[in-house]
This record gives sequence, C-alpha cells and structure tokens, in this order.
Amino acid sequence: MMEDSSLISHEAYGAEIAGVLIPRHRIAVRLDELARRIIEAYPDGELTILAALTGSLVFLSDLIRRLPLRLRLDVVRVSSYPHQATASREPSVLIASSGDLPGRHVLIIDDILDTGRTLGLIRGLVLAAGAASVRTCVLLSKRRDDLPGRMAADFTGFDIDDQFVVGYGLDYGDLYRNLPDVCLLRDLAGRAGR
Ligand code: XMP
Repeated sequence: MMEDSSLISHEAYGAEIAGVLIPRHRIAVRLDELARRIIEAYPDGELTILAALTGSLVFLSDLIRRLPLRLRLDVVRVSSYPHQATASREPSVLIASSGDLPGRHVLIIDDILDTGRTLGLIRGLVLAAGAASVRTCVLLSKRRDDLPGRMAADFTGFDIDDQFVVGYGLDYGDLYRNLPDVCLLRDLAGRAGR
C-alpha cells in the first residue's frame, strides 16, 4: 500500500509537527489486514516475535493483540540513529535477545525499513541462532529507489516516500513517540532522511 504524502494538518500537535501522514484510524485498519496475513502465514499457530526496540513498541503492542496465536515475545535493541541524526548508520546490537530462538518460527518486528541494515543485522543473528524460520514485519517501508537491491519485509504496513517520520513509536531525538499518528516534522518535512 503506497502512502501519498499529502498532509493532514493537526493543530493539536503544535508548531513542530508539519502534519499527519498516516492517521490512527488508517493504521488500525491496516493492522487488522496485516494481522490476518500473519495468522495465515503461521498455520501451526506458534510464533516467536522478536521486536526491535524502541521504535516498534507502539506498533508491536497494537499488532500482537490482534494475533490469537501461541505467541512468545522477545526484544532486541539495535542502535541505528545515534542522537538526533536522521541518517541511518551502521547498526550495532545494544541489547541482545533472550536467546530462546533455536527451532522457533521467528517474526522480526520493526517500525520502519530504510536501508535495511537494521533488519538485515537482526535477521542474520536469528538465522545464526538456529531459528526454524525467519520473517520480517515493518509498519513502514521507505521507498529507496537509490538502493535497488534493498531487502523487502515479508509484511509491510505502508510504503512511504523517503522522508523522516515521527509518532506512533518513531522518534526524533527521543521525542514524539507518543503521537498517535505517523507525522512529519516541520523542519524536516520534505527532506530526505540522510
Ligand atoms: P535502516 O536504514 O537500518 O533503518 O533500515 C531502520 C532504523 O532506522 C530508524 N529510522 C527512523 N526512525 N523516523 C524514525 O524515527 C524515520 O523516518 C526513520 N527511518 C529510519 C529506525 O530506528 C529503524 O529501526
């Protein structure tokens, strides 16, 4: 589902937010669809979710409550955007998963796919740990025509243009995660995330 980038203005967010890119009701509808597809992909009903902190937390909590599966939850913390950078850097693991991955069907959840380095790193760790299967799920996927070979997620909520987004778990300088919608920042609106 490609997202158009026409902004809905939202006065409650104040001057720093340029507008809402994806409103909460559209996220909710899309999560219902994503959940249906994920349930179909795991006919045995067993699933281990490995969530990348911190940006995926809101997406994660809304998604897993739509998944009536025998579900285990694990987390990993990977740094990719140090401090207030809007450019993706080489990620490194800050907090490792609990390690209960061998033989599990693992679904990695992240907030957004940009260069693919973060998901690629986590995917490699899960495969090396001996998981039975590995799939990936992101709320947002940035269009990166400049990276033709970039990995794709198995499940994607919304495809968006290459712009820096906040809200619904995503941050800038650790702020804005609590906004209920996916938004664009005023001073970064229209600027590529590099
Ligand atoms: P890569 O390049 O590794 O980047 O695919 C994915 C990670 O980078 C962060 N990221 C963002 N965070 N707004 C954010 O708040 C964005 O527009 C954005 N783009 C990338 C995010 O942590 C993700 O896990």
